[in-house]
Amino acid sequence: MVVIPGPGSRELGEKIASLMNLTCSHPIYRVFPDGESYVRLSAPVAGKDVVIVQTTYPNQDKRLLELLFLVKTAKDLEARRVTAVVPYLAYARQDRRFAEGECVSIHVVLDMIRTAGADKLLTVDIHKVDVLKKISIPWVNISAAGELAKHLESRAVRPSLILAPDAGARDLARKIAEPLGIEHHFLKKIRNRETGSVRTLDEGIPRAEVVAIADDIISTGSSIANAASVLRKRGVRRIYAYCVHPVLVGGALVKLKDAGVEEVVGTDSVPSEISAITVAGVLAEAVAQFGKGSSS
Ligand code: R5P
Repeated sequence: MVVIPGPGSRELGEKIASLMNLTCSHPIYRVFPDGESYVRLSAPVAGKDVVIVQTTYPNQDKRLLELLFLVKTAKDLEARRVTAVVPYLAYARQDRRFAEGECVSIHVVLDMIRTAGADKLLTVDIHKVDVLKKISIPWVNISAAGELAKHLESRAVRPSLILAPDAGARDLARKIAEPLGIEHHFLKKIRNRETGSVRTLDEGIPRAEVVAIADDIISTGSSIANAASVLRKRGVRRIYAYCVHPVLVGGALVKLKDAGVEEVVGTDSVPSEISAITVAGVLAEAVAQFGKGSSS
């Protein structure tokens, strides 16, 4: 088995290969003057099981195309089996037609990954797991919740509550809170689909002095900033923000700080300045298990 990290996940791919004691073969990657991507595998893959590790942010369209190039090339060069490890799968939030005529973008993305020749797909905390049922190859969606919980456990001042900023993150909050033996709760968030702005309702939050807000993605930071403002009004002393995928658009970190968040922590599913937690361990484990596994 060989690990091929794409340009979006060089370090993460190396970590996975090292944890699994596998060869890590970096492809040659260039960008032509007009912006087109070029990839070339640097070692033969014929007859081998190939694991391509490529996240799809920042620059989702370019990263996606590079992923497809790598998968297709490995198949063309007769790899035995290609596993696409895509820690952050872009476009997952557009998982249905919210308005008449919209493209269900994630269906297109999944279709492209399969058509390029991936035999298996492995991702981390996809926005809604059900969407993976649309892809007709085996898949696994792993959760980084346990890694987030370990990070929280190591803090000098631990939270007594994990708060999801919306119903969609409720499961993530539960999975973080349970191993820590603390409470979890979720807020009602209303998003204006036209403007993207969000409103958060202050409903039934259990009493806590230290709270960690947890979400799958931090994009503009508005969801967590709103939740933090609600907590501040209730006199919560310390607020941490945790996410799996730190997309961090524009001034997201400033927005969170202004809202009273003491520290923001994310994983390296998306490389960023706050990616203090690695998903290499859970991904390596999942890749090792995948041979036996079914979709989950
Ligand atoms: C959507 O519901 C996701 O789970 C996140 O809550 C959302 O992407 C966060 O976006 P933002 O940081 O822009 O509020």
